[in-house]
Amino acid sequence: MSQKNISNFIIKESISLTDKYQLMILECTEEAKAFQDIKPGQFVQIRVDNSHHTFLRRPISINDVDIENRTLTLLIRKAGDGTKAICSLSQGDTLNLIWPLGNGFSVDITPASRIILMGGGVGVAPLLYLGKILRMYGLKPEFLLGAQSSDDLLLLEKFKEIGTVHISTDDGSLGEKGLVTRHSVLSTHIDKIYCCGPLPMMKGVAALCKSNNIDCEVSLENVMACGVGACLCCVEPTVKGNRCVCTEGPVFNINELLW
Ligand SMILES: Cc1cc2nc3c(=O)[nH]c(=O)nc-3n(C[C@H](O)[C@H](O)[C@H](O)COP(=O)(O)OP(=O)(O)OC[C@H]3O[C@@H](n4cnc5c(N)ncnc54)[C@H](O)[C@@H]3O)c2cc1C
Ligand code: FES
Repeated sequence: MSQKNISNFIIKESISLTDKYQLMILECTEEAKAFQDIKPGQFVQIRVDNSHHTFLRRPISINDVDIENRTLTLLIRKAGDGTKAICSLSQGDTLNLIWPLGNGFSVDITPASRIILMGGGVGVAPLLYLGKILRMYGLKPEFLLGAQSSDDLLLLEKFKEIGTVHISTDDGSLGEKGLVTRHSVLSTHIDKIYCCGPLPMMKGVAALCKSNNIDCEVSLENVMACGVGACLCCVEPTVKGNRCVCTEGPVFNINELLW
Protein backbone atom coordinates (compact mmCIF):
# COMPACT_ATOMS: atom_id res chain seq x y z
CA MET A 1 0.00 0.00 0.00
CA SER A 2 1.41 3.42 -0.94
CA GLN A 3 2.00 6.09 1.70
CA LYS A 4 -0.84 8.59 2.12
CA ASN A 5 -0.08 12.30 2.26
CA ILE A 6 -2.00 15.39 3.31
CA SER A 7 -0.50 18.21 1.27
CA ASN A 8 -1.25 21.68 -0.01
CA PHE A 9 -1.19 22.04 -3.79
CA ILE A 10 -1.06 25.34 -5.71
CA ILE A 11 -3.31 25.61 -8.75
CA LYS A 12 -0.89 26.10 -11.66
CA GLU A 13 -3.62 26.11 -14.30
CA SER A 14 -7.40 25.93 -14.25
CA ILE A 15 -8.84 25.41 -17.71
CA SER A 16 -12.55 25.59 -18.46
CA LEU A 17 -13.09 22.82 -21.05
CA THR A 18 -16.84 23.50 -21.30
CA ASP A 19 -19.30 25.14 -18.91
CA LYS A 20 -19.55 21.75 -17.10
CA TYR A 21 -15.95 20.55 -16.99
CA GLN A 22 -12.75 22.00 -15.56
CA LEU A 23 -9.19 20.70 -15.99
CA MET A 24 -6.94 21.64 -13.06
CA ILE A 25 -3.17 21.24 -12.88
CA LEU A 26 -1.96 21.27 -9.27
CA GLU A 27 1.61 21.57 -8.06
CA CYS A 28 2.61 20.10 -4.71
CA THR A 29 4.09 22.75 -2.44
CA GLU A 30 5.82 20.21 -0.23
CA GLU A 31 8.67 17.78 -0.72
CA ALA A 32 6.70 14.61 -1.49
CA LYS A 33 8.16 11.36 -2.71
CA ALA A 34 4.72 9.91 -3.46
CA PHE A 35 4.56 10.97 -7.14
CA GLN A 36 6.47 7.97 -8.50
CA ASP A 37 4.30 5.61 -6.41
CA ILE A 38 0.98 6.83 -7.83
CA LYS A 39 -0.94 4.07 -9.61
CA PRO A 40 -3.39 4.84 -12.42
CA GLY A 41 -6.93 4.70 -11.05
CA GLN A 42 -6.02 6.16 -7.66
CA PHE A 43 -7.80 9.29 -6.46
CA VAL A 44 -7.45 12.30 -4.17
CA GLN A 45 -9.77 13.67 -1.49
CA ILE A 46 -10.09 17.45 -1.81
CA ARG A 47 -10.93 19.70 1.16
CA VAL A 48 -13.43 22.31 0.04
CA ASP A 49 -12.62 25.42 2.07
CA ASN A 50 -14.61 27.86 -0.05
CA SER A 51 -18.09 26.32 0.29
CA HIS A 52 -20.25 26.81 3.40
CA HIS A 53 -22.32 23.73 2.49
CA THR A 54 -19.53 21.20 1.86
CA PHE A 55 -18.14 19.68 5.04
CA LEU A 56 -16.67 16.48 3.63
CA ARG A 57 -13.78 16.22 1.22
CA ARG A 58 -14.68 15.31 -2.39
CA PRO A 59 -13.10 12.31 -4.18
CA ILE A 60 -11.62 13.02 -7.63
CA SER A 61 -9.58 10.63 -9.81
CA ILE A 62 -6.02 11.39 -10.76
CA ASN A 63 -6.19 12.20 -14.47
CA ASP A 64 -2.46 12.68 -15.08
CA VAL A 65 0.82 12.83 -13.20
CA ASP A 66 4.00 14.75 -13.97
CA ILE A 67 6.58 13.22 -11.64
CA GLU A 68 9.38 15.62 -12.59
CA ASN A 69 7.34 18.79 -12.04
CA ARG A 70 5.40 17.30 -9.11
CA THR A 71 2.00 18.08 -10.61
CA LEU A 72 -1.31 16.23 -10.64
CA THR A 73 -4.01 16.91 -13.22
CA LEU A 74 -7.69 16.54 -12.29
CA LEU A 75 -10.71 16.56 -14.62
CA ILE A 76 -13.73 17.79 -12.69
CA ARG A 77 -17.43 17.84 -13.58
CA LYS A 78 -19.36 20.58 -11.80
CA ALA A 79 -21.90 18.26 -10.14
CA GLY A 80 -22.94 20.19 -7.03
CA ASP A 81 -21.76 22.76 -4.48
CA GLY A 82 -18.44 21.06 -3.67
CA THR A 83 -17.16 20.55 -7.20
CA LYS A 84 -18.47 23.97 -8.29
CA ALA A 85 -16.57 25.59 -5.41
CA ILE A 86 -13.36 23.73 -6.34
CA CYS A 87 -13.74 24.72 -10.00
CA SER A 88 -14.29 28.38 -9.08
CA LEU A 89 -10.77 28.64 -7.67
CA SER A 90 -8.11 30.36 -9.76
CA GLN A 91 -4.46 29.99 -10.67
CA GLY A 92 -2.35 30.59 -7.54
CA ASP A 93 -5.05 29.44 -5.09
CA THR A 94 -4.35 26.51 -2.76
CA LEU A 95 -6.13 23.15 -2.44
CA ASN A 96 -5.56 20.67 0.38
CA LEU A 97 -5.45 17.04 -0.77
CA ILE A 98 -5.21 13.60 0.83
CA TRP A 99 -3.40 11.55 -1.81
CA PRO A 100 -2.95 9.06 -3.39
CA LEU A 101 -5.95 6.96 -2.28
CA GLY A 102 -7.40 3.61 -3.35
CA ASN A 103 -5.87 0.62 -5.09
CA GLY A 104 -5.63 1.60 -8.78
CA PHE A 105 -5.84 -0.54 -11.93
CA SER A 106 -3.58 -3.57 -12.34
CA VAL A 107 -1.17 -3.41 -15.28
CA ASP A 108 0.15 -6.98 -15.31
CA ILE A 109 -0.70 -7.97 -18.87
CA THR A 110 1.26 -9.60 -21.69
CA PRO A 111 2.55 -7.32 -24.48
CA ALA A 112 0.46 -9.04 -27.17
CA SER A 113 -2.79 -8.34 -25.34
CA ARG A 114 -5.50 -6.29 -27.03
CA ILE A 115 -6.63 -3.81 -24.41
CA ILE A 116 -9.58 -1.43 -24.48
CA LEU A 117 -9.85 1.47 -22.03
CA MET A 118 -13.51 2.35 -21.94
CA GLY A 119 -14.85 5.57 -20.44
CA GLY A 120 -18.19 7.31 -20.24
CA GLY A 121 -18.62 11.01 -19.41
CA VAL A 122 -16.19 12.20 -16.74
CA GLY A 123 -15.34 8.50 -16.19
CA VAL A 124 -12.69 9.01 -18.86
CA ALA A 125 -10.62 10.87 -16.21
CA PRO A 126 -8.50 8.00 -14.80
CA LEU A 127 -7.99 6.38 -18.23
CA LEU A 128 -5.48 8.95 -19.50
CA TYR A 129 -2.76 8.14 -16.96
CA LEU A 130 -3.61 4.43 -17.25
CA GLY A 131 -3.07 4.65 -21.03
CA LYS A 132 0.28 6.39 -20.52
CA ILE A 133 1.46 3.72 -18.09
CA LEU A 134 0.34 0.88 -20.40
CA ARG A 135 2.26 2.55 -23.26
CA MET A 136 5.29 2.76 -21.00
CA TYR A 137 5.04 -1.03 -20.56
CA GLY A 138 5.14 -1.42 -24.38
CA LEU A 139 1.42 -2.11 -24.80
CA LYS A 140 -0.87 -0.48 -27.38
CA PRO A 141 -3.98 0.62 -25.51
CA GLU A 142 -7.08 1.57 -27.49
CA PHE A 143 -9.71 3.90 -26.07
CA LEU A 144 -13.47 3.57 -26.44
CA LEU A 145 -15.04 6.81 -25.26
CA GLY A 146 -18.74 7.48 -24.95
CA ALA A 147 -20.73 10.64 -24.30
CA GLN A 148 -24.15 12.15 -24.87
CA SER A 149 -22.84 14.41 -27.60
CA SER A 150 -19.51 15.50 -29.17
CA ASP A 151 -19.42 18.51 -26.77
CA ASP A 152 -19.15 16.08 -23.84
CA LEU A 153 -16.13 14.23 -25.24
CA LEU A 154 -13.22 15.41 -23.16
CA LEU A 155 -9.46 15.49 -23.78
CA LEU A 156 -9.79 13.73 -27.16
CA GLU A 157 -6.47 15.07 -28.48
CA LYS A 158 -4.63 13.82 -25.38
CA PHE A 159 -6.11 10.33 -25.77
CA LYS A 160 -5.18 10.29 -29.48
CA GLU A 161 -1.52 10.95 -28.53
CA ILE A 162 -1.53 7.65 -26.61
CA GLY A 163 -3.54 5.25 -28.78
CA THR A 164 -6.37 4.68 -31.24
CA VAL A 165 -9.62 6.30 -30.12
CA HIS A 166 -13.05 4.81 -30.88
CA ILE A 167 -16.07 7.02 -30.17
CA SER A 168 -19.78 6.65 -29.48
CA THR A 169 -22.23 9.47 -28.94
CA ASP A 170 -25.88 9.08 -27.96
CA ASP A 171 -26.93 11.67 -30.56
CA GLY A 172 -24.52 10.51 -33.30
CA SER A 173 -22.72 13.89 -33.43
CA LEU A 174 -19.34 12.06 -33.43
CA GLY A 175 -18.36 8.42 -33.93
CA GLU A 176 -20.96 5.66 -33.87
CA LYS A 177 -24.48 6.64 -32.80
CA GLY A 178 -25.84 4.94 -29.70
CA LEU A 179 -24.71 3.52 -26.41
CA VAL A 180 -20.97 2.99 -26.00
CA THR A 181 -21.69 -0.60 -24.86
CA ARG A 182 -22.98 -1.31 -28.40
CA HIS A 183 -19.91 0.05 -30.26
CA SER A 184 -18.76 -2.27 -33.08
CA VAL A 185 -15.23 -2.54 -31.66
CA LEU A 186 -16.68 -4.60 -28.82
CA SER A 187 -17.55 -7.39 -31.23
CA THR A 188 -13.87 -7.85 -32.23
CA HIS A 189 -11.29 -9.89 -30.27
CA ILE A 190 -10.38 -8.20 -26.93
CA ASP A 191 -8.26 -9.60 -24.08
CA LYS A 192 -8.93 -7.00 -21.42
CA ILE A 193 -11.23 -4.04 -20.77
CA TYR A 194 -10.65 -1.34 -18.17
CA CYS A 195 -13.81 0.67 -17.59
CA CYS A 196 -14.95 3.76 -15.72
CA GLY A 197 -18.23 5.56 -16.17
CA PRO A 198 -21.88 5.58 -15.13
CA LEU A 199 -23.03 2.45 -13.26
CA PRO A 200 -25.42 1.16 -15.99
CA MET A 201 -22.59 1.41 -18.53
CA MET A 202 -20.15 -0.50 -16.29
CA LYS A 203 -22.75 -3.18 -15.57
CA GLY A 204 -23.40 -3.51 -19.33
CA VAL A 205 -19.67 -3.90 -20.00
CA ALA A 206 -19.35 -6.43 -17.17
CA ALA A 207 -22.18 -8.55 -18.64
CA LEU A 208 -20.58 -8.42 -22.09
CA CYS A 209 -17.17 -9.38 -20.70
CA LYS A 210 -18.58 -12.27 -18.68
CA SER A 211 -20.39 -13.74 -21.67
CA ASN A 212 -17.31 -13.34 -23.92
CA ASN A 213 -14.73 -14.41 -21.32
CA ILE A 214 -12.93 -11.03 -21.39
CA ASP A 215 -10.93 -9.99 -18.34
CA CYS A 216 -12.39 -6.72 -17.01
CA GLU A 217 -11.69 -4.17 -14.28
CA VAL A 218 -14.14 -1.41 -13.38
CA SER A 219 -13.61 1.69 -11.26
CA LEU A 220 -16.57 2.32 -8.94
CA GLU A 221 -17.69 5.80 -7.90
CA ASN A 222 -19.71 4.95 -4.77
CA VAL A 223 -20.50 8.03 -2.72
CA MET A 224 -17.72 8.55 -0.17
CA ALA A 225 -17.24 10.45 3.06
CA CYS A 226 -13.90 9.83 4.79
CA GLY A 227 -12.08 8.23 1.85
CA VAL A 228 -9.79 6.27 4.17
CA GLY A 229 -11.82 3.27 5.35
CA ALA A 230 -13.17 4.74 8.62
CA CYS A 231 -16.87 5.52 8.01
CA LEU A 232 -17.97 2.48 5.94
CA CYS A 233 -20.32 4.62 3.84
CA CYS A 234 -18.81 3.45 0.54
CA VAL A 235 -19.10 -0.33 0.98
CA GLU A 236 -19.81 -2.55 -2.01
CA PRO A 237 -20.99 -6.15 -1.56
CA THR A 238 -18.50 -8.53 -3.19
CA VAL A 239 -17.94 -12.30 -3.34
CA LYS A 240 -15.62 -11.82 -0.33
CA GLY A 241 -18.22 -9.83 1.68
CA ASN A 242 -18.62 -6.07 2.00
CA ARG A 243 -15.58 -4.11 0.82
CA CYS A 244 -14.74 -0.39 1.22
CA VAL A 245 -14.50 1.14 -2.23
CA CYS A 246 -12.20 3.88 -0.91
CA THR A 247 -9.49 1.53 0.37
CA GLU A 248 -10.03 -1.84 -1.34
CA GLY A 249 -11.28 -0.20 -4.57
CA PRO A 250 -12.21 1.91 -6.40
CA VAL A 251 -11.00 -0.66 -8.95
CA PHE A 252 -12.46 -4.17 -8.83
CA ASN A 253 -12.21 -7.12 -11.17
CA ILE A 254 -15.79 -7.85 -12.29
CA ASN A 255 -15.45 -11.42 -10.95
CA GLU A 256 -15.22 -9.94 -7.43
CA LEU A 257 -18.52 -8.06 -7.75
CA LEU A 258 -22.04 -9.40 -7.27
CA TRP A 259 -23.22 -7.96 -10.60
C1 LIG B 1 -13.27 7.26 -6.48
C2 LIG B 1 -14.04 8.42 -7.13
C3 LIG B 1 -13.43 9.12 -8.14
C4 LIG B 1 -14.12 10.18 -8.74
N1 LIG B 1 -13.50 10.85 -9.75
C5 LIG B 1 -14.09 11.92 -10.30
C6 LIG B 1 -13.42 12.69 -11.28
O1 LIG B 1 -12.28 12.39 -11.71
N2 LIG B 1 -14.05 13.78 -11.77
C7 LIG B 1 -15.31 14.14 -11.34
O2 LIG B 1 -15.83 15.15 -11.80
N3 LIG B 1 -15.98 13.44 -10.42
C8 LIG B 1 -15.40 12.34 -9.87
N4 LIG B 1 -16.06 11.64 -8.88
C9 LIG B 1 -17.42 12.06 -8.50
C10 LIG B 1 -17.32 13.25 -7.54
O3 LIG B 1 -16.67 12.85 -6.36
C11 LIG B 1 -18.71 13.77 -7.20
O4 LIG B 1 -19.31 14.31 -8.36
C12 LIG B 1 -18.61 14.84 -6.13
O5 LIG B 1 -18.25 14.27 -4.91
C13 LIG B 1 -19.94 15.57 -5.97
O6 LIG B 1 -19.77 16.53 -4.96
P1 LIG B 1 -20.52 17.94 -5.01
O7 LIG B 1 -20.39 18.59 -3.70
O8 LIG B 1 -20.11 18.71 -6.20
O9 LIG B 1 -21.99 17.51 -5.31
P2 LIG B 1 -23.12 17.12 -4.26
O10 LIG B 1 -23.92 18.35 -4.00
O11 LIG B 1 -22.57 16.35 -3.11
O12 LIG B 1 -23.93 16.15 -5.19
C14 LIG B 1 -24.37 16.59 -6.49
C15 LIG B 1 -24.83 15.40 -7.27
O13 LIG B 1 -23.71 14.53 -7.48
C16 LIG B 1 -24.02 13.23 -6.94
N5 LIG B 1 -22.82 12.66 -6.32
C17 LIG B 1 -22.35 12.96 -5.09
N6 LIG B 1 -21.27 12.22 -4.83
C18 LIG B 1 -21.10 11.42 -5.92
C19 LIG B 1 -20.19 10.41 -6.25
N7 LIG B 1 -19.23 9.99 -5.42
N8 LIG B 1 -20.31 9.83 -7.45
C20 LIG B 1 -21.25 10.19 -8.30
N9 LIG B 1 -22.16 11.13 -8.05
C21 LIG B 1 -22.08 11.72 -6.87
C22 LIG B 1 -25.11 13.47 -5.92
O14 LIG B 1 -25.92 12.29 -5.76
C23 LIG B 1 -25.89 14.60 -6.53
O15 LIG B 1 -26.82 14.15 -7.48
C24 LIG B 1 -15.42 10.55 -8.29
C25 LIG B 1 -16.02 9.83 -7.26
C26 LIG B 1 -15.34 8.77 -6.68
C27 LIG B 1 -15.97 8.01 -5.56
S1 FES C 1 -15.54 6.62 2.43
FE1 FES C 1 -15.37 6.16 4.55
S2 FES C 1 -14.96 4.07 4.53
FE2 FES C 1 -14.95 4.56 2.42
